[in-house]
Amino acid sequence: MVITNDIKYVGVNDHDIDLFEGHYIVPEGMAYNSYVICDEKSCVMDSVDGGFADEWIGKVKDALCGKAPDYLIIQHMEPDHSGSIKAFMDEFGATKIVSSQKSFTMMSNFFEGEDFADRRIVVKEGDSLELGSHTLSFIAAPMVHWPEVIMTYDSKDKLLFSADAFGRFGALDEVGETVREDDDWACEARRYYFGIVGKYGAQTQAVLKKIANLEIEQICSLHGPVINENLDYYLGIYDIWSSYKSESQGVVIAYTSVYGNTKKAVESLAERLKELGVPRVEMTDLARDDMAEAVEYAFRHDTVVFATTTFNNDVFPYMREFIHSLTERNFQNKRVAFIENGSWAPAAGKIMKGMLENCKGLIYAENEVKILSALNDESRAQLEALAKELAEIY
Ligand code: FEO
Repeated sequence: MVITNDIKYVGVNDHDIDLFEGHYIVPEGMAYNSYVICDEKSCVMDSVDGGFADEWIGKVKDALCGKAPDYLIIQHMEPDHSGSIKAFMDEFGATKIVSSQKSFTMMSNFFEGEDFADRRIVVKEGDSLELGSHTLSFIAAPMVHWPEVIMTYDSKDKLLFSADAFGRFGALDEVGETVREDDDWACEARRYYFGIVGKYGAQTQAVLKKIANLEIEQICSLHGPVINENLDYYLGIYDIWSSYKSESQGVVIAYTSVYGNTKKAVESLAERLKELGVPRVEMTDLARDDMAEAVEYAFRHDTVVFATTTFNNDVFPYMREFIHSLTERNFQNKRVAFIENGSWAPAAGKIMKGMLENCKGLIYAENEVKILSALNDESRAQLEALAKELAEIY
C-alpha cells in the first residue's frame, strides 16, 4: 500500500494471536505496522512480531525492488515490534539500526547480548537523519509506551511516525490500511489507549505538546490504520484521554453479582437513570465482560457506579481487579457512587472507597445503597434517591 510517493506500508496482520500483550482479547486480530521510505538512502520504520519475520522481510524486499535498506529505525522495543530485528539484520548484512540508547540496551537483553555495536546509530531528541529529499527528525516519547520510545517526523511528506500512539486493536486486512469513514476507530483505540498507555497521561501530554507545532498530514502508528484526514479529531481525542477529562456524559455501572440480587438492583438503577434522561447508561458485569472494556467505559464517562458484594470481608475479586486497574491508571476527575451487598456484615462500600481514596478529583455521591442479601423497600428507596441524584446534572 502506498502512503506517499516515497513511503509504502509493509505491515502484517495477526489473526492467530489469542491475547495481545498477554492479556487483551483482540477478536479482530492485530496489525503490526511497518513502513518503507525510498530515497537516496532507504529506511524501514520498525520491525514486526517475530512470528511474521519472513512475511515482513518479503514485503520489504518487494517495496525496495530487491535493494537492501540502508537503515532500520526502531522506535519501540516491545516484542510486537522488535521481534524480527535479528532476522532482518541477518538478512541485510549492511543495514544500520537507528534507535535510542535505551533501545540498544534492551536489544542486548532481548537478543542475548547482541546489541549490533558496529552497526548502530544512536539518536536522541532533536537529532535528524538525512535520507536525500527526506529529513527525519526524532522526538523522544518516553513511556508512550516504554521508556526507550522515539517518534519520527518526516518534514517532506509531513508525516508523523507515532510508535504505539494513535494505535488501535484490530488487524487491517478487513478495513484496509487507512481510516475509512465507517471504521469506528475510537472504539478499539480507546480500549487500547486506556489499557496500554492510560497510566502515562502526563507523558502523552508532553509528547502532544512537542508535536503541536508540527505540520502533520498523516499519522502512521505501529498499530491500526494510517490516519490521513480529520487529524484535529484524533489529536483532540488523545488530548482528552491523556488529560483524564471525560469524553462523554453518562453513567457506567460496573458490578459483580453472585446470585443475581446485585444485578437486579443495578438493572433497576439503569432503567431509572434512562427514564430520568441520563444521556448514556452503560452496564458491565465485571466477572463476565471484558475488563479492558470496563476500564475504557470508566475513563470515558463522567460518572461511575461501583456495585459489589462483600466477600471474605473484602470486595468480590473482579471488583478488586477493576478498581486496581483504574487506580494504577490514575483514575481521577469523576463522580462516583457505591452500592454494596452483604448477607451478614456488609463492608464492600467502605472497602471500595478506601481503594479509591488516593484518586484526585473524585466527587462522591451523597446517596449510597446498602443491600442486605436482596432488595427490600428500604434499599429500593435508596436506589431511587441515588438515581435522582445522579440524573440531576444532565
Ligand atoms: Fe505495540 Fe508497546 O507495543
